[in-house]
Amino acid sequence: SVSSTATSYQGPAMKFELVGKCSKSKARAATMKLPHGTVETPMFMPVGTQASLKGLTYEQLKDLGCKICLNNTYHLGLKPGQETLDTVGGAHKLQGWNGNILTDSGGFQMVSLLKLATITEEGVNFLSPHDGSPMLLTPEHSMSLQNSIGSDIMMQLDDVVATLTTGPRVEEAMHRSIRWLDRCIKSHKNPDTQNLFAIIQGGLDLDLRRQCCAEMAARDTPGIAIGGLSGGEDKESYCRVVSLCTDLLPANKPRYCMGVGYAEDLVVSVALGADLFDCVYPTRTARFGNAITRFGNLNLRSRKYMDDFSPVEEGCGCPICKPKSEGGLGITRSFIFHLAAKETAGAHLLTLHNVYYQLELMRRARRAILQDSYPDFVKQFFHDLYNGDR
Ligand code: GUN
Ligand code: ZN
Repeated sequence: SVSSTATSYQGPAMKFELVGKCSKSKARAATMKLPHGTVETPMFMPVGTQASLKGLTYEQLKDLGCKICLNNTYHLGLKPGQETLDTVGGAHKLQGWNGNILTDSGGFQMVSLLKLATITEEGVNFLSPHDGSPMLLTPEHSMSLQNSIGSDIMMQLDDVVATLTTGPRVEEAMHRSIRWLDRCIKSHKNPDTQNLFAIIQGGLDLDLRRQCCAEMAARDTPGIAIGGLSGGEDKESYCRVVSLCTDLLPANKPRYCMGVGYAEDLVVSVALGADLFDCVYPTRTARFGNAITRFGNLNLRSRKYMDDFSPVEEGCGCPICKPKSEGGLGITRSFIFHLAAKETAGAHLLTLHNVYYQLELMRRARRAILQDSYPDFVKQFFHDLYNGDR
C-alpha cells in the first residue's frame, strides 16, 4: 500500500513527517505540525486540567518546553460548559494557552472514575457527579463538545473494557469502537481545523487487535491511538500488543499510546514505534511527594532527606533543580522535605520537576534516534535507573 513506504502525511489540520529512524529498533522521530504549533516526537503530553496540573500555570508549562497538553472533554463540558466554551471561542482562549490541546473523548474517564457507568450501543450512561441525574455521552455529543473546545487533536468515543477482561465483551467493545468511530467521523463539524484520532481496542487478544488495526486504518484518520492498555497487564503482553499495532498501523501517521507514563514504559514503547504518550502519573505522584529521577524515584517526605542539601536530581535542568548561579531556583531535597507541611507548595515544585523530567526524557530519546544511537540511550537509561547512585 501507499502508506507502507510513505514518510509523511498531509491532512487539512496536520502535517506529520518522519525525520529519523533507528536502524536497530522501530524507534522513530517525527515532526507533527498542528494548528497551534509544531510538536516534535516522541513526545509525552502532560494532563493539563485544573485537577491534575494543580498549581502549574500554562506559562510554566510553556517554559518547560511543553507544546501539547491534554484536557478532558467531560470536565470542560461540565465546567465551564458548552455554552461558555462557544461564547469564549474554545479552550485555548478560555485558558490562555497558545500551544496545542488534545482532548480525550470522556467515556474512558466516566468508566474508570465513576464505576457506575454502563454502556449501550447508544453511548455511555452514567450518573452526573453533580446531582446524580442520569446522563448519556454519545459519540455525537462527545464530538460536539470537542468541537466547542476546539482541541487540535480530538479522540473518538470508544468502548473501553478493563485491560484484563477476556471473553465476548472484549470483542464486542472492539467492534463497537469501530462503529462509534464512524459516528464520530460523520458528526465531526471541523475536520479542516481539528484532527480526529481513532483508538485501537481489542484487549490482549492479538487477533482482535489485528482486525481493529485494519478497520481503523481504513477509516484514514490523521492519527491512531492504541487504547485499552496500562490496566495492570504484564509487560510482555503490553509489548506484544504495542508491537503488533505499530507493525500494522500506517508508518506515516502518529501513533499514540494512551495512559502510558512510567519512564521505563516510554523508553520501551518508543523502541516499539510509538510516538505520543500521556499519563497523570508524573503530576499525581508529585502530590504524594515523589520525584521522578533518572536514578529512580525519591519520596521526599522521607526523613532521610531532612538534611540532604543536594538538588532533587543532580544535573537536572529544570527550574527547581538548576543552581541559582545558572538562573534556576537551586531548591534542595531538604527544602522540599520541610515544605511537606505546606503540601501544595512542595507538590507544585515537584510537579514542575516531574513534568520537565518526562519532557526532557523524550527530547533526549529523540536526539538519540536522530543520531541513530537509540540502543545506547536505552542501555544507559536502564543502567542509571537500576545501578545509578541516587
Ligand atoms: N486513556 C487511557 N486508555 C484509554 C483508552 O483506551 N481510551 C480512551 N478514550 N482513553 C484512554
Ligand atoms: Zn529537576
